[in-house]
Amino acid sequence: MAIEEKIKKLVELREKARLGGGEKRIDSQHSKGKMTARERVDYFLDEDSFEEFDMFVTHRSHNFGLEKQVFLSDGVITGHGTVDGRVVYVFAQDFTVFGGSLSETYAQKICKVMDQAMKVGAPIIGLNDSGGARIQEGVTSLAGYADIFQRNIMASGVIPQLSAILGPCAGGAVYSPALTDFILMQDKTSYMFVTGPKVVKTVTGEDITTEDLGGAVTHASKSGVSHFVSETEEEGLMMLRKLLSYMPQNNLEDPPITECHDPSDRREDALNLIIPENPNKPYDVKDVIEMLVDNGEFLETQRQYARNIVTAFAKFNGMPVGIVANQPNFLAGVLDINSSRKAARFVRFCDAFNIPLVTLVDVPGFLPGSMQEYGGIITHGAKLLFAYGEATVPKVTITLRKSYGGAHDVMSSKQLRGDINYAWPTAEIAVMGAQGAIEVLYLREIKAIEKEEDKIKFIDEKIKEYNEKFANPYNAASYGYIDDVIEPRNTRFRIIRALQTLATKKDTNPPKKHGNIPL
Ligand code: HXC
Repeated sequence: MAIEEKIKKLVELREKARLGGGEKRIDSQHSKGKMTARERVDYFLDEDSFEEFDMFVTHRSHNFGLEKQVFLSDGVITGHGTVDGRVVYVFAQDFTVFGGSLSETYAQKICKVMDQAMKVGAPIIGLNDSGGARIQEGVTSLAGYADIFQRNIMASGVIPQLSAILGPCAGGAVYSPALTDFILMQDKTSYMFVTGPKVVKTVTGEDITTEDLGGAVTHASKSGVSHFVSETEEEGLMMLRKLLSYMPQNNLEDPPITECHDPSDRREDALNLIIPENPNKPYDVKDVIEMLVDNGEFLETQRQYARNIVTAFAKFNGMPVGIVANQPNFLAGVLDINSSRKAARFVRFCDAFNIPLVTLVDVPGFLPGSMQEYGGIITHGAKLLFAYGEATVPKVTITLRKSYGGAHDVMSSKQLRGDINYAWPTAEIAVMGAQGAIEVLYLREIKAIEKEEDKIKFIDEKIKEYNEKFANPYNAASYGYIDDVIEPRNTRFRIIRALQTLATKKDTNPPKKHGNIPL
């Protein structure tokens, strides 16, 4: 064959591969408001940066007449490209080929890019849209999933792993995304569940729609499985790019520092007034975050889940950080099962990838009650405690208002190796709030007072005395648990200087196989 013909054949094969499952199925994909796998990859990566692998791979199955249906690329597009000039590896499941279902060779394609991402030390991004295991292939498909799971586990904490769910994701297939660091779901067109509504109905009798069982809103607000929800695929893919901008390429690198035009010494007078006079009145901690970070920009994770704690990526003078902040606007910012789990996972991600932690504290304590105790608040609360205590990244903590009880210890306190712990003059650092404390300390005396008005007077006096002693940061500061009491409006500058100082911080944990975080 002449070279021209050989090249012509190559071009034809490439064109055939690019058609995936054919024009009809591509049209059907578009009619559902979904992009094809290749369109997604092109949209996600920097222009013209995609290098595709394994375009000529096909399945090897002869079951159920499958040998008569052979598609180049076999339902998954894999390769590498760049995001903001940095290398990433990517796989995108192609729903137009056997519903994006996973075959033996398809799994091998994904494993190849995962292996190379590990060797290169670059993030791996999975764009999922698949009917699960390829039914005709049986157990080799299951083995293929397990090969991927094992790689997800080995890559955890070594390279960032991101998943977008852009269509169906069911059965055991949900566990590969679940093993990754962040999951984005596309509103209305994606779902995740271990068993679908039909099986649920058969087994339990429960009637539930696909959307209610495993749609994006369900997983963003009820289960906490997904970290981000997008309205459109384009928005979702851009969100993943933004997310990557806060991360290093791997666990041996620091996150990328970018140029910052927001003055590092920007004062925010409004912060001096943000804490209400009444300690029981809420305020929105996101307003505080917005005033502190570069250009007021932050990327919140699990925004609709456990809203009593805010977890977000942001930058200070161009330096990426992870922010954990109690949210007085929701359940008074209390720590409960879900908020502890949410924050613990976030803290561990940041620690694994050398992203400093900035913690904003306003916490009245742990949520009391049988529901929490039966649900295991002891174990779940301990997760956050463990995560903070284990973290060796720079830890800067600002106590804005309340910091009570066990929750005080948990929220990146000095004794959990908090590096720089500042407090605002409005801080209240104590074992518990005044009312509760007085009722415990003076129970006998209060009972002995006969007249109601005398009782109230006595309690008020004791509350005043208690507040004078504890409802301030100075008692903690007198022990050195708080390094300095700072004026709120100077907080941005103080955080930036703290982060700059801690940039060369080195801390270690004792050698061990791994800790035993209370899972
Ligand atoms: C082979 C599949 C397939 C699968 C879909 N297709 N799922 N082929 N194996 N798992 C094919 C269909 O035959 C069809 O082929 C094309 O993909 C599109 O499917 P439709 O049903 O027409 O699309 P839609 O109506 O959008 O429904 C999508 C779907 C549905 C909800 C995903 O196809 C479905 O329920 N599929 C089965 C899902 C499933 O039970 N998977 C196994 C889960 S167990 P044509 O030729 O018509 O285009 C599992 C175990 C993993 O995954 C374990 C890991 C440990």
